[in-house]
Amino acid sequence: MEKKDIDWSKLGFEYRKTDYRFSAIWEEGSWSDGELVTSEFITLHEGSPALHYAQQCFEGLKAQTAKDGQILLFRPELNCERMQNTAARLSMPQVPLELFLHGVREAVRANAAWVPPYGSGASLYIRPLLIGVGPNMGLRPAKKYEFRVMVTPVGPYYKSAGLSLISLAVSDFDRAAPHGTGDVKAGANYPGGLYATRKAQELGANEALYLDAAQRRYIEEAGSANILISMAGNKLVTPKSAAILPSITRRSIMDIARVELGMETEERPIDLRAEVDSFEEVAACGTAAVLSPVGKIWFDNSWHTFYNKGESVGPVMQNLYDILCQIQKGERQDSFGWTSAVAL
Ligand code: PLP
Ligand code: COI
Repeated sequence: MEKKDIDWSKLGFEYRKTDYRFSAIWEEGSWSDGELVTSEFITLHEGSPALHYAQQCFEGLKAQTAKDGQILLFRPELNCERMQNTAARLSMPQVPLELFLHGVREAVRANAAWVPPYGSGASLYIRPLLIGVGPNMGLRPAKKYEFRVMVTPVGPYYKSAGLSLISLAVSDFDRAAPHGTGDVKAGANYPGGLYATRKAQELGANEALYLDAAQRRYIEEAGSANILISMAGNKLVTPKSAAILPSITRRSIMDIARVELGMETEERPIDLRAEVDSFEEVAACGTAAVLSPVGKIWFDNSWHTFYNKGESVGPVMQNLYDILCQIQKGERQDSFGWTSAVAL
């Protein structure tokens, strides 16, 4: 199969129209089989709860090409499980695992020419969406839903390519309330962060870092990624909070750290000001962010730097990044059984 004629190395994290998307409809208690469609447009009723009350959610995962040409998915069943949890929280019907996987695989298979080749450094970003549609006015769940899977080839999320340092600025705004929807992937969690991100960027940071909304003490997460911190004693620590998105990348990296690197891993509340001096290396992680080492964090009117004064990537994050990417690209024995090939 001929790949599209694209300079894959120049891709950023932008939308690029591909040939097909998968769409299934839920109505009167059941899902349609779903089908591939060519139009990138969705015609929505003006009364759709997705538009008025943000009754919608999404997921994000990637497909990568292995050396032998196979296209590999990374733990898609966990994205389905999370979308099901989100749907339950937002009073939407759950997409069954079989339909979710079918939609993802079909969208990837049909757009195989858009999956960046092995060694290009790019990947195919897969964006499943679940939206409440149809006429509605009062604050009630929609009576009809569309599950759609769109895909687009992407390069690095943060501007610089490869493994390079980013910086974060602690936000004056909260991302999520303690018993709100921060732990699910509701689209409504994100637009408030656009302003917070802009404020962080005005300070020269790539992204906002949020603290817990109740006390503004404990690290929660960045706008689009969870946080990992290495500490003395070969420890990898990550924030415990009921208000952050349970990242699949983070869960995987914590397993890699423990099993492959023999690190002690811990999920616990991390008090930023009280503990910052014991941070050796810091990183943001997620599907889009992969593992992005954090050189410095802005808070209380100054920059706080980590490994080598924030000037280079430390060995722990470099190692974790390498192992994760090698597994995702099929370059390393996948002893965890995390990757699966899409039948072409
Ligand atoms: N946190 C937020 C707010 C996100 O949007 C994402 C992206 O999905 C993550 C963390 C990382 O999650 P995952 O590793 O499952 O992509
Ligand atoms: C992802 O990493 O898949 C996300 O959904 C983050 C998004 C804000 C780009």
